[in-house]
Amino acid sequence: MSSPLATTPAAAPAQPTTTPPATTLPPVDLHNIQGDIFPGLPKKFEAYWFIQIRDGQVNQFRTKLFKLLPLITSAAQAQRDQDQIDHYKGSPAFNGQLLKLSGVNIGFSHKGLVKLGIADPITNTTTDPFQTGMFNDIGNLNDQADKWLPDFKKDIHALIFITGESLATIHERYAELKWILGSTIQEVKLTVGNVRPGKENGHEHFGYLDGVSQPNIQGIDKSPDPNPVEAPIPQGLILCKRDGDVIGTSTDPFPRPDWALDGSFMAFRYLTQNVPEFQAFIDAKNPPGAPQDFLGARLVGRWKSGAPIDLTPLHDDPALAADPIKINHFTFDAQSQERCPFAAHIRKTNPRGDFTPDIAEKRRILRRGIPFGPEVSPIEKQNQMTVLDRGLLFKCYQSQIGVGFQFLQQSWANNTKFPFGRTKIPTPGFDAIIGQDPNGGDRTMDISATNDPNSSLDLPVEWVISKGGEYFFSPSISALREVFALNPFVNGNGVHHENGNGLNGVHHPEL
Ligand code: HEM
Repeated sequence: MSSPLATTPAAAPAQPTTTPPATTLPPVDLHNIQGDIFPGLPKKFEAYWFIQIRDGQVNQFRTKLFKLLPLITSAAQAQRDQDQIDHYKGSPAFNGQLLKLSGVNIGFSHKGLVKLGIADPITNTTTDPFQTGMFNDIGNLNDQADKWLPDFKKDIHALIFITGESLATIHERYAELKWILGSTIQEVKLTVGNVRPGKENGHEHFGYLDGVSQPNIQGIDKSPDPNPVEAPIPQGLILCKRDGDVIGTSTDPFPRPDWALDGSFMAFRYLTQNVPEFQAFIDAKNPPGAPQDFLGARLVGRWKSGAPIDLTPLHDDPALAADPIKINHFTFDAQSQERCPFAAHIRKTNPRGDFTPDIAEKRRILRRGIPFGPEVSPIEKQNQMTVLDRGLLFKCYQSQIGVGFQFLQQSWANNTKFPFGRTKIPTPGFDAIIGQDPNGGDRTMDISATNDPNSSLDLPVEWVISKGGEYFFSPSISALREVFALNPFVNGNGVHHENGNGLNGVHHPEL
């Protein structure tokens, strides 16, 4: 979909680069997938706008949504925007001034689907995390309810996010969306993230390069393969109803309504990071004689530059990190944590060679977060104490929350025994970055390089704190048009005709 703010000229439709798996489904159409899912919306800033649909305004909202549809950025458009940015940055005309570009995507929570009267069972049980919502899932995630911000305890029906190269562009687009949706919605929360400045560009607030390892999706990603060691994942691990969106370990397709095709479930987390405290811990516990941030690198699994410690365990290697192939060209030695601790963040969340490839592959997610909050101030640094909230607006996509995000957090990051069967050490311990104890606070992690059975590092506090979030479904653009929105030109009386637009029995009650 073209975006009025984008300066992109119309281009030929993007097509998948390889043949999709044999199936009765039509091939993936990048014009029909929201661009944040794939390839990600280019951004320096990103506003997250959490909204409620007002009582008695459902059909009005749906009509407004129809008007908003041309602003939704498709995967094809996001790809063109990125190509344009790359071309511009490489051209002699580039003077540091960024192209004015904006993207918009939308997702609905289960409460949002209920509000819209979309009764089709998009997940197959009432215990599916999407259906229960993230607040009711905090027992599984080990979040502390009292840490959650009040806004995230309210009903959130939809999340609209707006990306742009500047705050001014975001504000412009936000005002436009607000004007379109008018009084049909009520704002629950607006929060804005920003890429960090200068040489911290692309790094999360602890200072480590982020967004390095993402799965390559079969038949969609451009060649060359950005991740030569790991096989591309089936489309159905990210896109609903595609090959690989199956029930458990079976090959049975996950039952979903037809309109769910090419939608994806998104997990959003509002995660604050206590940066001065984290850095003070690393500095205090860094082994004598070891390079700066050696301990931090063992907790994360990568140096601040992004270089994986599995390839360069003793010192950072910025040149290796700058090589887009080498930076992901590793697996782990399943029997040893000499090069990388079993519980390092990147090993907990993607255990690569620790198991047969299908085990880690099934759990891959597409991460699309952005940092938020100011840089650490000199006073915070000096006092080693956080004063202003900063952290990560984490979001990730998968076809099943319980297979992707929820599983990674609950069964791997929080599970001190994972990876299982590592007999040389008592237990790998928590993921020091995101692992959470049921009671919060004190945790341990094994970081020994020598597989010393008695080595265990005390992690006295949690430096990443979950203060809220929600699960959403990001529909395909055709589903947005035909199921979620109401075409005022077809249904001029504002009444949606059940089974009217090939809607597959979706029932929208007149509210
Ligand atoms: C504030 C919180 C977090 C911080 C600071 C953080 C930081 C990082 C960093 C620095 C990397 C390595 C670079 C990269 O591959 O992108 C990484 C990778 C990763 N993180 Fe996080 N992360 C956070 C939250 C999460 C959460 C909540 C999850 C999911 C439950 C997660 C899942 C992953 C995955 C899957 C990878 C890629 C592992 C790989 O394929 O090698 N992260 N994270």
